[in-house]
Amino acid sequence: MANATKRNGRQAQPCTMVIFGAAGDLTRRLLIPALYNLARDKRLPKEFRLVGMARTDLSSEAFRDELSSSLKSFATKDLDSKAWDGIVAGMSYIQGNFDDDDAYQRLAAHLAELQPDGTTPEGSAVAGNVLFYLATAPEFFGGIVERLAAAGLTGEAEGAWRRVIVEKPFGTDEDSAKALNTELLAVLDEKQIYRIDHYLGKETVQNIMVFRFGNGIFEPLWNRDHIDHVQITVAETVGVEQRGGFYEKTGALRDMVPNHLSQLMALTAMEVPTSFDADAVRSEKVKVMDSVRPFTPEMALHDTVRGQYEAGIIGEKPVPGYREEPNVARNSDTETFVALKMTIDNWRWAGVPFYLRTGKRLRRRMSEIAIQFKRAPIALFRDTPIEDVTPNQLVLRIQPDEGISLQFGAKIPGPELEIGGVKMNFQYKDYFNSAPATGYETLILDCMIGDPTLFQRADNVESGWRTVQPILDAWSERRPRGFPNYEAGSQGPRSADELLARDGRVWRKI
Ligand code: BG6
Repeated sequence: MANATKRNGRQAQPCTMVIFGAAGDLTRRLLIPALYNLARDKRLPKEFRLVGMARTDLSSEAFRDELSSSLKSFATKDLDSKAWDGIVAGMSYIQGNFDDDDAYQRLAAHLAELQPDGTTPEGSAVAGNVLFYLATAPEFFGGIVERLAAAGLTGEAEGAWRRVIVEKPFGTDEDSAKALNTELLAVLDEKQIYRIDHYLGKETVQNIMVFRFGNGIFEPLWNRDHIDHVQITVAETVGVEQRGGFYEKTGALRDMVPNHLSQLMALTAMEVPTSFDADAVRSEKVKVMDSVRPFTPEMALHDTVRGQYEAGIIGEKPVPGYREEPNVARNSDTETFVALKMTIDNWRWAGVPFYLRTGKRLRRRMSEIAIQFKRAPIALFRDTPIEDVTPNQLVLRIQPDEGISLQFGAKIPGPELEIGGVKMNFQYKDYFNSAPATGYETLILDCMIGDPTLFQRADNVESGWRTVQPILDAWSERRPRGFPNYEAGSQGPRSADELLARDGRVWRKI
């Protein structure tokens, strides 16, 4: 790396983190490994305590043992027992049902015990800074926050903060997302609410703004004068795993588009914010979503494609079809793939389609944003068929194989004047030796520090849902035809190719 500009070392203040749903998968797989990585990098405050709360009957000791053993499977970095022991020493567990008022009284008493020397400020049941992490099923979010407030745990008395991280999914449509915001905002201030979208924790996603606004050469080209279209792909090889029950009600559109894919689109399309302050950045993102041309019922059917996988082979391994997965109806109409075309009606993007697609059980795991520039005028190359003139494509590879590449045309050596496509390729691993992380490290640390830039404001969440709501409505009135319609291990349904073919374009290969 030639030159590096460093952010100031950021350190969180002493705090207690309470995880609701502490016996669940998210805690084991992501939150604990992320806390461990923070401890290893000496980013956690010295006085840090972790309280787990869940329905499962566990002692604090069993909780500590269980997480110590699961960390061995899920840690992304080598185990440094000193760092982990530091977390374990401050770890405890409270058993309780999330709708049981008494459990919140026990939690309050426990938090008070953890702060023996702290004087409890007026208006609060306990002293100190507390981060509540809602890693539960979404139907509990509103109730938990209300009960925390009723137990006097959310009031921010002088010198102490109370923050709540709310996991995804935030609602199941526009109305329910608004209702949840109303519920949360009835007892919390917006600045206490941290709505997570774990895509914003990914380094490559954070890099989109740095790439666009930290370099002088790309922004002048970043508009409808130079860009033909944009393709955003989030392809997965996994199926629905053990989440059939959840996925049946959710589907690919709800699961991925109003949140992760919209975030990628907003970061790609947003205007330069006046600063990197949380509100400046989040306001620019909302403006993008508000400029998306609303889908009419006709467009919602014409410009979208839904798919569902059937049995197939991925990496030489046979995998079952969606309808054969556990907890999935044998005649399910739930989509596991979606592709759509969005149009952003503003001065920068008018006439530049954004094609989005995401699906499960596709040929390979690949998330990327591909910016395709307009072709060069071909007068110089009269004998070259237009499709052989390589379009310039800038590809931001989000995961795996993180990096950025730029494709351009070069003369193929030889006596003829022939053009071939070549690539300049940047790979993260060639420049930075950062060990793999979960993506939750930055998000948890940011919340402890009080920086909400990488979290969604109420209006960000609502604008994501508002954009897809007409599609949800149109789809609910018309059953999908021909499900299942793509083989596991393929590129997705043929109709997705037709969506682009109608505009004379093709998807990049998955
Ligand atoms: C989650 C979805 O939000 O994101 C999952 O609910 C999906 O269905 C996952 O698999 C993808 O995340 P990542 O980080 O693996 O791309």
